Amino acid sequence: MEQEISYLQTTLTNKTIVEKLSFLAENFKGKVAFSTSLGQEDQVITDLIFKNNIDIQVFTLDTGRLFNQTYDLLDLTIAKYKKNIKIYFPESAQVEEFVNTKGLNSFYESVANRKECCAIRKVYPLKRALKEVTIWVTGLRADQSANRLEMKEFEWDANFKLIKYNPLIDWSLEQTVSYLKENKVPYNPLHEQGFVSIGCAPCTRAIAEGEDIRAGRWWWESSQKECGLHAK
Ligand code: ADX
Ligand code: SF4
Repeated sequence: MEQEISYLQTTLTNKTIVEKLSFLAENFKGKVAFSTSLGQEDQVITDLIFKNNIDIQVFTLDTGRLFNQTYDLLDLTIAKYKKNIKIYFPESAQVEEFVNTKGLNSFYESVANRKECCAIRKVYPLKRALKEVTIWVTGLRADQSANRLEMKEFEWDANFKLIKYNPLIDWSLEQTVSYLKENKVPYNPLHEQGFVSIGCAPCTRAIAEGEDIRAGRWWWESSQKECGLHAK
């Protein structure tokens, strides 16, 4: 796998993101998928894939606890590009068991509860979504967190056992926002109210100027701010 990753890295050096995405779509037919949370980075990639008719499956994980603005943006994005974004839900039996035994908002009570909620609502559905996938495209950027600073454009994901392609890994937030404005890509109105990184509504708050980008995610916790999607 190391070899395949360095082959991709070498073959695709100096190519544009659109060329890289197209190459992957052609060489791994039906096996490339992009996960969108409808965040700013993800909207850039969605725009690149849809505008250029690249044959990559786009999907999102509906945790059941997203902001209304996120649902509206999902709807708007599907309507604008007239393309499909596949929506994955958690298993209803797991959610029922969890909320009926632990409570609706038990994620505030302990890190263990929070991780269990993220596992049920995000990680297991993601496992399902990635079952037949060889290349997983994400909107990760290196300067989002210390953990992400170590991530590469192409890397092996040991959790999901596939190659991850992070096209915006070296992009800055400013670059991302400019792309959206210049290309008139719809984005979440919450970004203009201090929300930078947006996840589930009860677990995301706005940040003040100068605060860390991910300070608004699971803000009551001091533990590592990752939910298991991109954990090492
Ligand atoms: S998280 O791990 O903290 O939730 P973050 O919100 O920074 O992740 O998003 C990083 C990348 O993970 C996104 O660019 C996207 O590829 C993927 N991702 C995160 N949340 C979702 C979601 N709800 N649905 C689909 N993909 C997601
Ligand atoms: Fe549950 Fe919060 Fe994780 Fe969403 S972010 S899955 S509500 S703990």
